[in-house]
Amino acid sequence: GAVRRPLVLANWKMNMAPDQVKPYLATVLPEVEKDEAADVAIAAQDLYLPEMLSLTASSRLMLSAENAHWTDDGAYTGETSPKALAALGVDYVLIGHFERRKLFNETDERVNLKTKAALKNGLKPIVDLDEDLSAYASADPKTVVLKQLALALDGISETAMKNVVIAYEPTWAIGSGEAASAEQAEKSAALIRASLANLYSPALAEQTRILYGGSVTTKNAADFLSQEDIDGILVGKAALDPKQFLELIDIAQ
Ligand code: G3P
Repeated sequence: GAVRRPLVLANWKMNMAPDQVKPYLATVLPEVEKDEAADVAIAAQDLYLPEMLSLTASSRLMLSAENAHWTDDGAYTGETSPKALAALGVDYVLIGHFERRKLFNETDERVNLKTKAALKNGLKPIVDLDEDLSAYASADPKTVVLKQLALALDGISETAMKNVVIAYEPTWAIGSGEAASAEQAEKSAALIRASLANLYSPALAEQTRILYGGSVTTKNAADFLSQEDIDGILVGKAALDPKQFLELIDIAQ
């Protein structure tokens, strides 16, 4: 969509080795400055963020956490505070990624609370909606995703929504090497946008970025990015290679 700036977001998950962080950024950072037509960000595990923040201090590359807690502080051993992430200078946070929902029992309610806590602290949440194969293939395919959307955004104002990014990820496409078709992904993105228009307003829907994620590669990225309602890509495996990440950024601009 023309009014929306594309966003290319790498999700390192728990995959990047500690000694690879510096070389990866050394490859990516000089290139990222050459063209500014797309926003670029990396989601990395918390431990890497302070070092990455200092390495990217003079870069336009933005950083994202992969998760954050639903309150600022308290007795939550092992959790990461959104307040602390914001104080460090982190820009984005992934909320409700499929792996969080599936492996860490993250409910729609928690996703909602985490989204609110992120916004309250000035982090930009990237709210993940995931769709399993039966929902993708069913006659009424988008009810699952649209229900997740409404629950995730419950109680969030239109003003706050200006800082929210939505990511649509069919679960079976994540890490499988089998991406959704660009047409199907576009259909989902368009329905998500229509739903945002209902929940908020056509204007808000028009300016909200919707990303596609799930086996995005340098081969299929252009197809996704050329769709009317797909405003960016959320990339796991392919973005672990800095050269491919740069190629994906090129494709988006
Ligand atoms: O968050 C992005 C991720 O879920 C997709 O992973 O490896 O299929 O690109 P991948």
